[in-house]
Amino acid sequence: MTNQVDQASVTATDIFTDRHTAYGFDGAPVSDAELARIYELAKFTPTAMNGQPLRVVFVRSEAGKQRLVPLLAEGNQAKSLSAPVVAILAADTEFHVNLPVTNPQMAGAKEWLDSDPDTRAVIAANNAWLQAGGFILAVRAAGLDAGPMTGFDNAGVDAEFFDGTALRSIMVVNIGHVADGGNFPRNPRLGFDQAVTLL
Ligand SMILES: Cc1cc2nc3c(=O)[nH]c(=O)nc-3n(C[C@H](O)[C@H](O)[C@H](O)COP(=O)(O)O)c2cc1C
Repeated sequence: MTNQVDQASVTATDIFTDRHTAYGFDGAPVSDAELARIYELAKFTPTAMNGQPLRVVFVRSEAGKQRLVPLLAEGNQAKSLSAPVVAILAADTEFHVNLPVTNPQMAGAKEWLDSDPDTRAVIAANNAWLQAGGFILAVRAAGLDAGPMTGFDNAGVDAEFFDGTALRSIMVVNIGHVADGGNFPRNPRLGFDQAVTLL
C-alpha cells in the first residue's frame, strides 16, 4: 500500500468540462504506465472508514475481450470493441479484512463487519460506486477518455471473471483516446437553481 502522489497537472476544465463520455476510440494504445496512473489517482477518492472496496480488472487482450463483450448489452458491444482497454469495476464485499491496516484508528471495525455481511455488502457497493466516479475522473486526469457503462449482464460477468470470489461487478469503463465523432453532443445539465438549495 502506498500513498504515491501523481505529479500530473490537470485543470478542472480538463476533467469536468472538456473531456466527456466517449463512445468510439481512435485505436491509439494505452500504456501500463497510464493504467497505473489512473489507479494511483483514483485510489485517493474518499470512502467510508477508508474501506476502499473498489477492485479493477483492465481487459486489454483479445482473449479477455472475447470473454467480456458477449456479456455486454448489444448496443454497447461495438463501443468496447473499439476501446484499447475496458476496465471492469467491482465491489469487494470482503474489503473489511484490510481495515486494521487502512483504518487502524477504528478498533473493532473488522470484527463488526465480519459478523454483519448484509451491512458489509451495502457499504461495499456504495463506496465502490463512489470510487467509480473518482475512477472516471482519474481516467480523464491521466489524459485519456472514458466511456462508463452499466448495460451488461452483472451475474454473467461475475461468473466469468469473479467466480468463487467476493467481488461483484458494478460498471465497465471503456478507456482510450476518443475518435473524431466519438462523443455524443452534451445533453443539458441541471442548473444551480434547479439542483441546489441555499439555506
Ligand atoms: C453509471 C453509468 C452508466 C452508463 N451506462 C451506459 C451504457 O450502458 N451505455 C452507454 O452507451 N452509455 C452509458 N453511460 C453514459 C452516459 O449516458 C453518459 O455518461 C451521460 O449521458 C453523460 O454524457 P457526457 O459525459 O457526454 O455529458 C453510462 C454512464 C454512467 C455514469
